[in-house]
Amino acid sequence: MIDQIYRKAVLTVSGQKFVEDLVRKQGWGLAQRFVAGEEVDGAIAAVKELQTEGILGNLDLLGEFVASPDKANEFADKVLHLLDAAHAAGVMPYASVKLSAVGQGQTVDGQDLGLINARRIVGKAKEYGGFICLDMEDHPRVDQTLEQFRILAQEFGTQHVGTVLQSYLYRTEEDRNSLDDLHPNLRIVKGAYLEPESVAMPDKADVDASYRKLVYAHMKAGNYVNVATHDENIIEDVKHFALAHGIEKDAYEFQMLYGVRRDLQRELAAAGYRVRAYIPYGRDWYPYFSRRIAERPANVMFILKGMLKG
Ligand code: FDA
Repeated sequence: MIDQIYRKAVLTVSGQKFVEDLVRKQGWGLAQRFVAGEEVDGAIAAVKELQTEGILGNLDLLGEFVASPDKANEFADKVLHLLDAAHAAGVMPYASVKLSAVGQGQTVDGQDLGLINARRIVGKAKEYGGFICLDMEDHPRVDQTLEQFRILAQEFGTQHVGTVLQSYLYRTEEDRNSLDDLHPNLRIVKGAYLEPESVAMPDKADVDASYRKLVYAHMKAGNYVNVATHDENIIEDVKHFALAHGIEKDAYEFQMLYGVRRDLQRELAAAGYRVRAYIPYGRDWYPYFSRRIAERPANVMFILKGMLKG
């Protein structure tokens, strides 16, 4: 409960314009703990560095909801550029995309612009043998994101596109069941948005229990699972569950965020588990950075100390 109150407080405060202006002005140095750079070169360099430790990369151009079709198309072009640059650098074009950033919810010629742009992006990833994960955003977007994921999976194949389910939403168990026919590659997360109690579990113990349930169900159904968490107890339990059910190490992977628990990422990779770091980059780092701060009280101290140092 304390965790939830803390998270809610940070997300509410960080949504204030003056806080955003202040942190944007002074915070880039601090944000670099979680963000691999403002340009694509920095992100690709980060992937290459992690590769030397046996850790894979998941590139993410930072950006969230945009209201204009031009901006959405521009953002999608930048993602295409990222895929080209990764391919040219010999890095697998594995990336994450928020559909709101490429036009989801805006209609152009009778079609959803998010889907139009996602087709371009997933198509390009497929051409290079890559993979796109559709990040999951706040709850009003879940229906449309899952519908669009289904369309893309049918058009391009689940080896080239996946999506995310959040264990804090009451609806998620049903959503996972409803996707089983596709045998999708899913990333399971706890959920990072400020959601009302009518849709999301307020108690962390319930979110954690739901997380385990979702991962186990997806594994048992024979699907590839991205276990995206820094929670060591859950990671241990997943390893034991897989062992007990004869699920091989290549049927799932652990995913963590760039700059978070690097020690654990290295330890798992050294033990022969597949590990992938989510590597964000770009100029629009503030919302991503705020969510990371909201996840852990120690992170807010890190910010305050850094800002006081100037
Ligand atoms: P939990 O919050 O219980 O933390 C477990 C442990 O990890 C604690 O010891 C905690 O202190 C430490 N920890 C967690 N976050 C930390 C941080 N930022 N800094 C330092 N320590 C930290 N969410 C979403 O809604 N949609 C999405 O698409 C994604 N995508 C995504 C991809 C990947 C690869 C990851 C790892 C996470 C996401 N998330 C996400 C975010 C996710 O929903 C969740 O907010 C964070 O992963 C934090 O929750 P944990 O599972 O780590 O557990």
